[in-house]
Amino acid sequence: MAIFEEGRLDEARSIIARYPEGRQRSAVMPLLYLAQSVEGHVTRAALREVADLIGVRTAEVEAVASFYTMLRLRPTGTHLIAVCTNLSCALRGAGQVYEQAHRATGIAHGDDVSEDGLFSVHEEECLGVCERAPVVQVNVANHDLVTPERMAEIVVALRAGEVPDPARGPATESFRAASRSLAGLDPKQTEPAAGSPASGATV
Ligand code: FES
Repeated sequence: MAIFEEGRLDEARSIIARYPEGRQRSAVMPLLYLAQSVEGHVTRAALREVADLIGVRTAEVEAVASFYTMLRLRPTGTHLIAVCTNLSCALRGAGQVYEQAHRATGIAHGDDVSEDGLFSVHEEECLGVCERAPVVQVNVANHDLVTPERMAEIVVALRAGEVPDPARGPATESFRAASRSLAGLDPKQTEPAAGSPASGATV
């Protein structure tokens, strides 16, 4: 089944319409985020569909998708935990936070998703908030000064269906919802009705 059909195709067209005539390829990022919000990650089929929508080659779309870590090409759990292990964070204990993220979620190194489907853990490069190290992103929202103990608390809260408050900005309740937000769409709507991008079921 195609990703972009009926209401979601309307949403894709509304994203493309944000850009001037002849600049449709500029919609590649939000279209990839929209595709990611549907399947939890960007699939091969999604790369082809996005390419068809904006009239470029699939390889060009893949080049974009593989560059940005907020776009996931591998299966991803309901919640994506990204631990910065770059220099400032590493000096302040990010290694232990990263290991705690694996222990608390039950994900073995090398696995994509926890057995319960709830979590993926990703080792991230600098998130640009080095003075608040160690920094962890949960569904793309930053959490500052994260200790191993705090990391475990965040996982427990997510497992209980809670949404821990990030250091800044709104929290998103899942990686799919965060992806819709990154596409510039309402994060609470995942099933738009045909012909009505603004309506749909909540996450
Ligand atoms: S090194 Fe972790 S935020 Fe910069």
